[in-house]
Amino acid sequence: MSGKISPSIMCADFCNLGRDLRTFEELRIEYLHIDIMDGTFVPNYTLGTDFVKALHAATDIPLDIHLMIDEPERKIDWFELNPNDYVSIHYESTRHVQRTLQRIKDRGAKTMLALNPATPLCVLEDVLPDLDAVLIMTVNPGFAGQKIVPQTLDKIKRCKKLLNERGYEHVEIEADGNVSFENAAKMRAAGADIFVAGTSSILAPGKDLAVETKKFREVIA
Ligand code: DX5
Ligand code: ZN
Repeated sequence: MSGKISPSIMCADFCNLGRDLRTFEELRIEYLHIDIMDGTFVPNYTLGTDFVKALHAATDIPLDIHLMIDEPERKIDWFELNPNDYVSIHYESTRHVQRTLQRIKDRGAKTMLALNPATPLCVLEDVLPDLDAVLIMTVNPGFAGQKIVPQTLDKIKRCKKLLNERGYEHVEIEADGNVSFENAAKMRAAGADIFVAGTSSILAPGKDLAVETKKFREVIA
């Protein structure tokens, strides 16, 4: 199966978002990556609950909601979720990882567990049955425009191996952070399935979105 694209909407031109959504629909983009930050788990604010609702009303493209917030178990129910949406929570953000993944499932959405660059893959082992995907952060979360943490490429490879060995090859791997054309090719070779495309690739300022997206699609084919 070819790689899937999840454009990082916090990197989009908000004043022309409707236009860009039509472009994404025409190009059959698989997901829209929505970064939710609380100013505590990460030192920044970005998008929020009303924005998620507005996107659901504006497009049928499923959302890939990346929660960079403390105690997500207390806040999941604030979000409108559709059945094909992914919700990722960070392993580092809660003492109740399994309970929170279960709550996402109960809400009818798909589960993804996000790992910061320093978090080892072994934390996945006891929640494999609860996962639809793993999000490997290839930068430290909080900001667009950062450089890749180099060892995360090998981490993607080791994650793929772990999933295969345990019989969870259906669990997808998403890469988020500095997914440039060059890095995306390496991430694809390492085993990533979903690519968060931001300022490093299709949403680089001043570039033609459709042209860049088609180019990106070829890199992750
Ligand atoms: C953080 C974000 C960023 C960003 C991706 O979770 O998802 O990683 O928007 O874009 P660039 O290409 O700027 O890293
Ligand atoms: Zn993200």
